[in-house]
Amino acid sequence: MPASKFYITTPIYYVNDRPHIGHAYTTILADVLARYHRLLGAPTWFLTGADEHGQKVQQAAAKAGIAPREQADRTVVRFQELWKRLEITNDDFIRTTEPRHYEVVQEILQDLYDRGEIYRAEYDGWYDVSSETFVNERDLNLAPGESPSDRPNITRIRESNYFFRMSKYQDWLIRYIEEHPEFIQPDFRRNETLGFLRKPLNDLCVSRPKSRLAWGIELPFDRDFVCYVWFDALVNYISAVGYRRDEARFRRWWPVNYHLIGKDILTTHTVYWPTMLKAMGLPMPQCVFAHGWWLAGQTKMSKSLGNVVNPMEMIDRYGVDPFRYFLMAEMSLGQDAAFTEEAFIRRYNADLANDLGNLASRVLKMVRANCGGRLPEGPAAEPPEGPEGELWKNVRAAAEELERAVEGMRLDAGLARVAAAVRETNRYLELKQPWTLAKAEDPGPLRVTLYTAAEALRVVSALLYPVMPRKMIELRRALGLGSEPPRIEQAKQWGVLKAGTEIGAPEALFPRIVADTSAPEPAPAAPAPAPKPPPSAAPAAPPAEISYDDFMRVDLRTAKVLTAERVAGADKLLRLEIEVGAERRQIVAGIAKSYAPEELIGKTIIVVANLKPAKIRGLESRGMLLAVADGDRLRLLTADGGVPPGVRAK
Ligand code: ME8
Ligand code: MG
Repeated sequence: MPASKFYITTPIYYVNDRPHIGHAYTTILADVLARYHRLLGAPTWFLTGADEHGQKVQQAAAKAGIAPREQADRTVVRFQELWKRLEITNDDFIRTTEPRHYEVVQEILQDLYDRGEIYRAEYDGWYDVSSETFVNERDLNLAPGESPSDRPNITRIRESNYFFRMSKYQDWLIRYIEEHPEFIQPDFRRNETLGFLRKPLNDLCVSRPKSRLAWGIELPFDRDFVCYVWFDALVNYISAVGYRRDEARFRRWWPVNYHLIGKDILTTHTVYWPTMLKAMGLPMPQCVFAHGWWLAGQTKMSKSLGNVVNPMEMIDRYGVDPFRYFLMAEMSLGQDAAFTEEAFIRRYNADLANDLGNLASRVLKMVRANCGGRLPEGPAAEPPEGPEGELWKNVRAAAEELERAVEGMRLDAGLARVAAAVRETNRYLELKQPWTLAKAEDPGPLRVTLYTAAEALRVVSALLYPVMPRKMIELRRALGLGSEPPRIEQAKQWGVLKAGTEIGAPEALFPRIVADTSAPEPAPAAPAPAPKPPPSAAPAAPPAEISYDDFMRVDLRTAKVLTAERVAGADKLLRLEIEVGAERRQIVAGIAKSYAPEELIGKTIIVVANLKPAKIRGLESRGMLLAVADGDRLRLLTADGGVPPGVRAK
């Protein structure tokens, strides 16, 4: 059931500097969610924009020797150009310097002032110049004998200002958050806000004297002041959809479904904004969702630290779609993630080049080579059983799980499930061996195999379309599906591809990235064996010979995977419960990048059962599973046939 409407926003970004990967991330995430909801049939409104007032922009302008407006005009196009390149489908782009915004801010200020929600008072206290906020001495955690003014950005100020009566909403807000668990997500962010609200909440200073900061929206009731930049900026979410201008339009979209933000701006969105809305008598956002940070190694990427990844460079090097895919698949929503080029290349080569690209090229090439370039006739009805039935069930389940993952903001998990379906389709081809079937007299089995694999590929192309719109349309065109966006209901239907359709021969969708490593290849220790080994088989000298008894000291046994789940905070680890004979044990394995947990359940694997137990991330691991590295991907060793768990290998 599609939602009745879907309104999603990103933060509006400061125009003090050009966009970096963090901005790109939030905006791509919003775009992907908007695209999924459009596919699901919900009327969708996707808003992004620019935060153009305030000290940061004024300072950047001063540094460049230009007027703040000029600074904003020059920088905003960099954001707009990047969004265009990244195929962002925002429905609107709001700039806070536009009359449609600042006039509404002024009306809100006047209204709140008239109703006594904003009052004038003398402020005498500490001020943090870098964050433009008034600070309590208590919050600075001073060392004994240290004065606030010893801190680099803290100065004492004494001035008249205007304050919004935020404190009076404290109890209401706490109750609201407690009664609406979906309001702030993930859960641990809700707790963070509730923790913040355990301390007394001050009123919010919403003015800055022009003597100190001239670049802002003038207070309508006192021309010596401009509006505090956050009070101005937050209003964009309602001014852009017609608040106080177009009642019908406003009611159509507000309350917003998701405010997507980074965790750096949680307090402004979960304390300032709800109390402002409450004072205006407006409904609360359905959800403020705070994602984690992209880190450069251990530290936050930020403009001020100068360690940011420039998205333009990444796109130039690797293309838009793989960049979008990486950002969506790599970050577990809510958690931090490290951005490294190596991680990018690893995931690209594994998920896109090896798995999806390889699958597409296998299927399309085989149809062209063996079926006269036209899609062969496949099973007319949904295959109920056998390898075809199994594969189709898996692919359908991926479609359903992705839909649930999108609704539950677990996009990375949903994409991992689709990647698993792609691998399953490759496995199906390995099982069916169409290259051997092509030599057989009866063309039937080959046709069934290629048609089934093409159907799986079609579903995958629809599921990944919101993330990689261009590449997936390219793939769909090759499958004879045209250039129209896919229809989601077809993702779960069998038999959409028509036999006889001409199949295209696209260029490699995702050519493998050959990492440009300066380290020389290790020299082979022995004469190069024939045939050529795969690149992962390191040509090192083999270990010394051992006796059979030596070998038997290692207790290798079959084990059945009963449960599997990710380990929080460790993106490589899975926690498995396995059955080894009559025994049930827990093992922790570094295979999360190669297998989705749900793929493992029910598999019969091989474990070293007598390995000394170890603690991994505080979890006991009793035994070790066996796997081989195929390129960047680990492949589990499994037992052929239906061997029960606990059987010893010899
Ligand atoms: O805060 N990782 O604008 P801003 C992930 N104008 N996301 C990141 C990131 C990182 N390392 N760095 C930035 C402002 N972001 C205000 C917002 S809204 C009414 C006003 C993303 O230019 C993330 O979404 O500093 C973060 O919240 C936003 O950029 C901050 O952008
Ligand atoms: Mg910032």
